Amino acid sequence: MKNRKLKVHRNDPCPCGSGKKYKRCCLRKENSKDMEADKELYLKKYSIRLKEEKDINSIRKAGRLALDTLDLVESQIRPGIATDDINTLVHNFTIKNGATPAPLNYRGFPKSVCVSVNEVICHGIPGERILKDGDIVNVDVTPILNGYYSDINKTFFVGTPRPDAQKIVRVARKCLKRGMAAVRPGNSIGDIGWAIQSYAEGQGCSVVREFVGHGVGFGFHEPPQVPHYGRKGEGIILIPGMVFTIEPMINLGKKDLNILDDNWTAVTRDSSLSAQFEQTILVTDNGFESLTPFDLQ
Ligand code: MF3
Ligand code: CO
Ligand code: CO
Repeated sequence: MKNRKLKVHRNDPCPCGSGKKYKRCCLRKENSKDMEADKELYLKKYSIRLKEEKDINSIRKAGRLALDTLDLVESQIRPGIATDDINTLVHNFTIKNGATPAPLNYRGFPKSVCVSVNEVICHGIPGERILKDGDIVNVDVTPILNGYYSDINKTFFVGTPRPDAQKIVRVARKCLKRGMAAVRPGNSIGDIGWAIQSYAEGQGCSVVREFVGHGVGFGFHEPPQVPHYGRKGEGIILIPGMVFTIEPMINLGKKDLNILDDNWTAVTRDSSLSAQFEQTILVTDNGFESLTPFDLQ
C-alpha cells in the first residue's frame, strides 16, 4: 500500500523551508521546469508550439471577437440574403474591431469567411447564392487579433428546418461536444477521433476524412492534425498548453467528397447534407478550456 502521508500536498508548507506554501514555491518551480522540458520535447518531436499564459489570454480575446462575430451573423441570417452578405458583415465587423480576417488571401482564398450551404462540407466561397427557407448554412470565422488566431464555426438554420436538417445539425453538434469531452492530459489525439466517429456512425452518419482539426494560435494551421476519426490511445499524447481546434464535418450520407472547379468548395459526393461545429480548445492541467466557448446543449 502507498503511504499517502509521504506526499507533500499543494497547500502544505514547502519542504524547502521557505515558509511559503508548496504550490507557491517549489511545486511551481518544478512545474515550470517540466513545462520548459515539455515545450522543447513537443517542439522537437512534433513541431507543436505550446502556449503560455500570455498567449492563451490573447487567443481568448481573439476567441471573444470570433464569438461576437458569429452572434452578429446569426442575428442577420434569414431567407433571401446572399452568402456574400455574410462575407460583408464578417469582414466589416472584424476590421472595425481592430482584427484581420485570416481567410482573406489565405492560399488564394478570395473572401473573408467560409460560408457552406447544405451539401457543401466546408470552404464555401461567399457569392451570389441566396439562402432559402429550410437551408442549413455553416459560417467559419478566423480573426487575427494582435497577431493571435482563433478559429470557430457553427451551422445555422435558415427559416424552418426539415427533419433531416435537424438531425445532421444535432449529430454534428454532439460530435464536437464528445470530442471536447475527450480532451485531458494523458489522453491521445486518437481518443478525440474515436469519441466523434463512434457517435456519428452510431447515428448512421459519416465523418469526413480529408479535413481535420489543427493546432492554432500563433498561426492559422499549426501541428498537430486532429482527425475526427480514429482509435482509442492512438497518436500524440495531450499535454497542458496545447491549443487546437476540433471541427468535425459530419455527413448525412456517405463520407466521400468532391472539390469543385474553384479548387476550394468541398461538397458531399452523394449530395447529402453536411454540418459542422468548431471550437478552439486549450488543454489544461485537468481537462480542457474552450477559448471560443458556446453552448452545445
Ligand atoms: N477555417 C477553416 C478551418 O477551420 C479553414 C479555412 S481556410 C480558408 O480550418 F482559406 F478557406 F479560409
Ligand atoms: Co479550423
Ligand atoms: Co475554421
